[in-house]
Amino acid sequence: MDASIKKLARERMQGRCRVCPQCDGRACSGEVPGMGGLGTGSSFRANIEALAKVRLAMRCLHDAAQPDTAAEILGMKLALPVMAAPIGGVAFNMGAAPQNPVDEAAYADAVISGSRQAGVIGCGGDGVGSLIPECSFAAIRRAGGWGIPFIKPWEGDFLWQRLEAAAASGCKVIGMDVDAAGLVTLRLQGRPVSPKTPAELVEIARFVHEKGASFIIKGIMTVADACLAADAGADAIVVSNHGGRVLDGTPGTAEVLPAIAEAAGKRLSVLADGGVRSGTDVLKMLALGAKAVLIGRPVSVAAIGGGKDGVAAYIEDIRANLSSAMALTGCKNITSVSRSILA
Ligand SMILES: Cc1cc2nc3c(=O)[nH]c(=O)nc-3n(C[C@H](O)[C@H](O)[C@H](O)COP(=O)(O)O)c2cc1C
Repeated sequence: MDASIKKLARERMQGRCRVCPQCDGRACSGEVPGMGGLGTGSSFRANIEALAKVRLAMRCLHDAAQPDTAAEILGMKLALPVMAAPIGGVAFNMGAAPQNPVDEAAYADAVISGSRQAGVIGCGGDGVGSLIPECSFAAIRRAGGWGIPFIKPWEGDFLWQRLEAAAASGCKVIGMDVDAAGLVTLRLQGRPVSPKTPAELVEIARFVHEKGASFIIKGIMTVADACLAADAGADAIVVSNHGGRVLDGTPGTAEVLPAIAEAAGKRLSVLADGGVRSGTDVLKMLALGAKAVLIGRPVSVAAIGGGKDGVAAYIEDIRANLSSAMALTGCKNITSVSRSILA
């Protein structure tokens, strides 16, 4: 990422994010709200450590000189198998005005339209008040429905109202970050969230399908939950620990991904996030069984420091790095990436 974008983001984020040379959760342990991981920050760091342990087998004797990074996920054609993760709450997580002139609406627009400009798709976050989801839905609507709203596992009628509003954005995919059931801050703010039973998930998946959209469940960390998600009719899952922000002491996502992909990969699309910082990391996640990956914090930094063009340029950097990593592991295209490229 361009140094001037990082510098501006660092100033605007006022210590909420220090924009470290390596975004690895060490400097920001326990900073929630903020951009860090919860508690000791071990779940955030576990994501980074798990990916660092994965080694690629370098191969240079082949004809994959110009790899094709294009991918198709849930019927969507993407320039590379990457999405911008749903992140919201600019004022309390990334720094407020006047030092940070990027408000929630401008942020959502930068992520959604910057992703679209780079040939991928951006996701939108959710929160207690109406500001975060309304900005996300509006940005998606402005992008002609090219975005994925993620709704929290709210209790009662509120859940259906939010899902209805998400569908009205014109999107073709709707997600739910079921792991936000761990966000006690939401309950304290008077808007409860809770774990969803398999029966409730069946109803939610049916509702989303009736709106003509695919359904993603985000926050799956075990084979058992992946199978329940498939049983409930989800079209995809995201293997995710919410960037380490909901439960301290989880494994890194790259550790649990292979078993989950093995168990559920034939029944739904397995996506993954957590600690992905380069095209090489994207390739590692694909080799471990993911069909696509979501990138969180670095996209936020690009959006705050560089707006839509900053996001698009960051994703293009990832694409170029992925392409080079594919060439050096002998992968002609995304569908040919397999465990065999792991050392
Ligand atoms: C400040 C912040 C806010 C977030 N808000 C949401 C949200 O509203 N919905 C959601 O599904 N995930 C949310 N996440 C989690 C991200 O979507 C994603 O899972 C995580 O950031 C991926 O890890 P990475 O940042 O290491 O790439 C948030 C993460 C951060 C850092």
